[in-house]
Amino acid sequence: MIESLEQCIIMARSLQQHYHNMHHLAKGVSFSGDHKMFGKFYEQLDGHYDRLSEYYVSETDSIPNVAKGVAEYLDSVDYSSVGYSKLLEVSKRVEEEFMAVLVSLDEEAGIGLKNLVGEAAEASDVRSYKLKRRTTYKTKKKDE
Ligand SMILES: [Fe+2]
Repeated sequence: MIESLEQCIIMARSLQQHYHNMHHLAKGVSFSGDHKMFGKFYEQLDGHYDRLSEYYVSETDSIPNVAKGVAEYLDSVDYSSVGYSKLLEVSKRVEEEFMAVLVSLDEEAGIGLKNLVGEAAEASDVRSYKLKRRTTYKTKKKDE
């Protein structure tokens, strides 16, 4: 359970940092909406990162060791050369990966943690929905 929890914390922190990067990289006609949307996303993930980490500390009496995992994850995305529309696609993929680790953790979690995992999963679902709406619109516009 602790290993899955640590993986979730790594993903929450990676996703938070990813969305903060997206907040800064937003551009084009959708700048204002994207900038605000990604701003809300990273603030929301800060809360989930914090609560998952607090649970980890309460179980292990140590802080989660996430720096290396987060650095590796963020290094896998080349922000300087990947175009913005590709980064929107990356966002959907990273969100799906976060959901996958939440599902794994949910299978192992006790009732106290399950509630927190459920809240994080519900928020992830909403972010995925917003990203899908955002990128579907883009695709359709391009196809016209
Ligand atoms: Fe800002």
